[in-house]
Amino acid sequence: MTNQDLEKLVDTSNEWILERTGIRERHIADPDMATSDMAVEAAKNCLEARGTTAADVDAIILCTVTPDHFFPSTACLVQDKLGAKHAWGFDLIAACSSFVYGLTTAAHLVGSGSHRKVLVIGADTMSRIIDYTDRATCVLFGDGAGAFLIEPGPEDEPPGFIGFRNVVDGSGGEALKMPAGGSRMPPSHETVDQRLHFVKQDGQAVFKFAVRRMGEISVDLIKGSGLTADDIKLMIPHQANKRIIQACADRIGIPMDRVLVNIDRYGNTTAGTIPIATWEALRDGRLQKGDILLLAAVGAGFTVGANLWRWAY
Ligand code: ACO
Repeated sequence: MTNQDLEKLVDTSNEWILERTGIRERHIADPDMATSDMAVEAAKNCLEARGTTAADVDAIILCTVTPDHFFPSTACLVQDKLGAKHAWGFDLIAACSSFVYGLTTAAHLVGSGSHRKVLVIGADTMSRIIDYTDRATCVLFGDGAGAFLIEPGPEDEPPGFIGFRNVVDGSGGEALKMPAGGSRMPPSHETVDQRLHFVKQDGQAVFKFAVRRMGEISVDLIKGSGLTADDIKLMIPHQANKRIIQACADRIGIPMDRVLVNIDRYGNTTAGTIPIATWEALRDGRLQKGDILLLAAVGAGFTVGANLWRWAY
């Protein structure tokens, strides 16, 4: 869906969207495709790239705010469709920070020695919860999925997972939410009539929080790990808005040629942005074995997260 397509739906323009967000187009799933379908495709590609099979996976962490259903969890659906017979799993909801939280969790499951292969999937079908009459939100989001496989590295190499900083500030809950559908406001004719099953946001509040906190925790993590911004080979931030990314990179002190930006072609795919961007970095040779990678995200909640990884293959 291009900006020109959106011009036909709401009072907006290609110029406004490009200048304020950096987005040119986003992908929209077919009507018969749900989050688990994209998640399975991403997982299959990931397992194939690692030369392993679903039967070897110990756990699946499915990061999403658009599960197929409230329950069963999308992780269960994916476990079955993949044939991951030996895996347990769960859905992780932290909005746009979900994937970073999922990686942090997987790193600890593997680091403890109790798990050898943990599949972390970020998948969101945002088009199902976006109001295409609301120009303030509908231009921002797209659908997409990606996956990482977290495994123990060779004992004679430095650890792949360097560290994390994850923070929640629940006082920001009102700034970005889907008001209805849960136990607070169950679905009814009124909630549907009032369009309360769609994303509502205070864009400026989200913008300010994102720039400040994503920058702060990234700086804190880099310093706390005994590193400097110069050690970061590549920063892959959550893709919410190109201006947020630029302001954060500036605060951290990482030049834009070491920051991956692909928001122009996907928009904000929520839990999908970081794994999709990482896959592009690998494909394009921007990420090599041994490189130090900073992943950072901010999302509804508010949730904020940053991870440092030493890329292992
Ligand atoms: N097309 C044209 N005009 C628009 C549009 C649109 N799509 N949307 C809003 N406007 C108008 C507003 O109505 C306003 O008009 P007014 O001055 O006559 O009142 C004007 O543009 C300026 O609106 P602002 O909200 O001040 O614009 P801003 O520069 O803040 O950009 C945006 C808005 C893009 C939403 C920005 O605030 C943003 O990206 N915030 C972060 C939101 C976000 O990323 N949320 C995603 C989930 S959370 C996460 O991933 C971090």
